[in-house]
Amino acid sequence: MTTLFDPFRIGDIEVANRFAMAPLTRNRSPNAVPTELSVTYYTQRATAGLIITEGTAISPQGQGYADVPGLYAPEQLAAWRKVTDAVHAEGGKIVTQLWHVGRVSHESLQPGGSKPVAPSAIRAKSKTYLVNADGTGTFAETSEPRALEASEIPDIVEDYRRAARAAVKEAGFDGIELHAANGYLIDQFLRSGSNHRTDQYGGSIENRTRFLFEVVEAVVDEIGGGRVGIRLSPVTPANDASDPDPQPLFEHVAAGLGTYGLAYIHVIEGATGGDRAFQQGEKPFDYAAFKSAYRNAGGTGAWMVNNGYDQKLAEEAVSSGHADMVAFGKLFIANPDLVRRFKEGLPLNEPRKETFYGGGAQGLIDYPFAA
Ligand SMILES: Cc1cc2nc3c(=O)[nH]c(=O)nc-3n(C[C@H](O)[C@H](O)[C@H](O)COP(=O)(O)O)c2cc1C
Repeated sequence: MTTLFDPFRIGDIEVANRFAMAPLTRNRSPNAVPTELSVTYYTQRATAGLIITEGTAISPQGQGYADVPGLYAPEQLAAWRKVTDAVHAEGGKIVTQLWHVGRVSHESLQPGGSKPVAPSAIRAKSKTYLVNADGTGTFAETSEPRALEASEIPDIVEDYRRAARAAVKEAGFDGIELHAANGYLIDQFLRSGSNHRTDQYGGSIENRTRFLFEVVEAVVDEIGGGRVGIRLSPVTPANDASDPDPQPLFEHVAAGLGTYGLAYIHVIEGATGGDRAFQQGEKPFDYAAFKSAYRNAGGTGAWMVNNGYDQKLAEEAVSSGHADMVAFGKLFIANPDLVRRFKEGLPLNEPRKETFYGGGAQGLIDYPFAA
């Protein structure tokens, strides 16, 4: 019987166990450059089979929150190199989450103070995080976006390609995770609530999934499918994501993804950070059918699940074959040595919400290891 502690191979990446550290935005990279704190934070968590970094912007336009790191400037790549070298020195594996927020942004974060971009000019009923002049943080309404011209889309696909290449070749990551979840740019194209386009990128399922597949194709072409994972959240309402009929949409996505030799598919089950049984549309989402659509199309990547997993639920998921890996978010924020704590049945530290976003060392690198 497979356990959480068994080693595994996901695409080209050998992992020591079935624990993934979920991507977690921490807003501690001033000027979009990770610091020494990031080196310590990730290195402390290197016993996870796979670390997925916080969402990392592929371009200045892809930025939507204050002090989020990027992958588009030499100093960012050099800073990430320190993180990946330190994690590798501890025997860990680390991929970076490629992020373009689309409409979930604020004019004050956009190049030239311009409007954020989106499939359609529909404002998200959602908030972003800004840092005031005095260094304190605040949540603010997202700005009204403008609809992308079809002619601009190839440049964004190119930004993903360039970021993937830089991540692996320059910053030393083991691979990348495409952030196609939680109502950000790729997800905005997928769902009819945010995509009202009438061109080849809107309307039918084939058209709404076109951008996603163009991005996947570009990054796979650049670094190879064995170093590419993708995160999807079929029913989440996060950031105003909505679609009345997610089942056929996401089965089409899964079947398409089955043809690229990807390392892994990362599925957020239910509402991100909330109700695991949350549903959009008439019927509960059928995750088994979603997975079958991927496997039937030839997909052999690892199946990674997330959202509200504790030790018991995670052990069941892996032993039953529901999943190959489990990603833990808040548990890894609070427990750098989560793998050991589960293995030895040690008590867990409680995450402190007030230090999730922004600030310094406190709440980032000061959670104690078990004695
Ligand atoms: C502080 C914080 C930051 C997050 N940042 C990201 C992110 O950058 N990218 C992403 O895909 N999800 C992000 N999430 C969602 C988590 O990856 C995860 O899906 C969620 O916390 C549910 O998993 P959990 O119950 O194990 O915490 C974030 C969640 C939290 C609490």
